[in-house]
Amino acid sequence: MKVLYNKIIQKIFIIICGLFISYYLIYFQLKRNIINISSNIHVVDLYATTPAKFQCIKTKKLLNNISTTICLHEIKRDKYVSGAYGDSISIWEEKQVTRILQLLTRHPHLHLIDIGANIGTYTMYAASLGRFVLAIDCFAPNIIRLRRSIQLMNLFNQVVLIQNAIFNHSGQSLRLSIDTRNIGGQRIHLLNNYSYKYNLSTKNPYIVKTITFNEVLPILNAYGIRSALMKIDIEGSEHFVMEKGNQIFDTLDIPFIQMEWTIVKQYINRVKLILDFFNKRNYDPMTDSCQILNQNEYTQWPDDIYWLKRNTSNFC
Ligand SMILES: *[C@@H]1O[C@H](CO)[C@@H](O)[C@H](O)[C@H]1NC(C)=O
Ligand SMILES: *[C@@H]1O[C@H](CO)[C@@H](O)[C@H](O)[C@H]1NC(C)=O
Ligand SMILES: *[C@@H]1O[C@H](CO)[C@@H](O)[C@H](O)[C@H]1NC(C)=O
Ligand SMILES: *[C@@H]1O[C@H](CO)[C@@H](O)[C@H](O)[C@H]1NC(C)=O
Ligand SMILES: *[C@@H]1O[C@H](CO)[C@@H](O)[C@H](O)[C@H]1NC(C)=O
Repeated sequence: MKVLYNKIIQKIFIIICGLFISYYLIYFQLKRNIINISSNIHVVDLYATTPAKFQCIKTKKLLNNISTTICLHEIKRDKYVSGAYGDSISIWEEKQVTRILQLLTRHPHLHLIDIGANIGTYTMYAASLGRFVLAIDCFAPNIIRLRRSIQLMNLFNQVVLIQNAIFNHSGQSLRLSIDTRNIGGQRIHLLNNYSYKYNLSTKNPYIVKTITFNEVLPILNAYGIRSALMKIDIEGSEHFVMEKGNQIFDTLDIPFIQMEWTIVKQYINRVKLILDFFNKRNYDPMTDSCQILNQNEYTQWPDDIYWLKRNTSNFC
């Protein structure tokens, strides 16, 4: 009897040790992958808090039952994005967000990469639906609001938030334009000798640090992300995502990209880079109702366009 008892104890002990060892192996594996990223990437600590006060609201339900929390700017400083929220009545870009949620629901293996996350409308809805989101934004006042929303919804395990501007060259300090009434319209300046002009150690939120899109690949790999939708809305810098993003498009399955077209279309070189990139990779540009757009008439395209990879079904 006693021998049997000892054997059972021994077995339980071995199982517990095994569990601990596997746990540490997985933990350090993840940690090592995450630590092994470019030192220019600023991964935001989601548990940190800031004393700043701002309003956070419970949002409108989309697709009958998906709702979330969004922390706003003062409406007089951010008339379009924050201004679009009325309590449970309206949200920013409702039609587009709804479309992304429909696609995520229809394709349960897809996650979201949200570039130009702003205060997190797309990020928060997609994470609240249970998907992983990699969210990137360069403006600290947006980041602290989005972080608070993540905390309030307890989505720590589903969002990785990165505070950087996407550029073709990593580790630069760039100047962001200042718009005191439309925060969401701020964009990076490229006219001057951007590399050296600004003091890198400054806390000025209008000085932003750059990374290339390729540099976030180890983070996506560490989270085991294989397929994702993308939203890119970065005020004319959209082409930088393609310019240094080939490794991500080579590695992940990205069937569908929503892209702001309003500003980038004014620069022929940027447009050419984007069209070449997607043509080589067999994507078609489309309207929100799946009409294929004529590439010779790119100046007439709508403000939001969609790149759909050929031969993907159930997107239109
Ligand atoms: C929403 O409703 C669907 C279908 O009724 C259900 O499967 C899903 O879990 C619900 N989602 C949430 C966030 O409540
Ligand atoms: C990056 O983009 C800027 C602005 O378009 C351009 O002037 C510069 O030559 C590019 N740098 C690299 C390393 O490609
Ligand atoms: C920018 O300024 C720095 C320091 O003044 C200088 O060393 C560098 O060559 C300049 N770069 C360009 C591209 O003009
Ligand atoms: C940058 O600013 C910090 C703090 O304001 C200051 O200590 C540092 O000397 C400045 N560096 C340069 C290169 O101007
Ligand atoms: C799409 O499907 C067609 C017909 O099955 C095939 O001929 C074509 O090569 C495919 N294109 C791509 C990009 O996979």
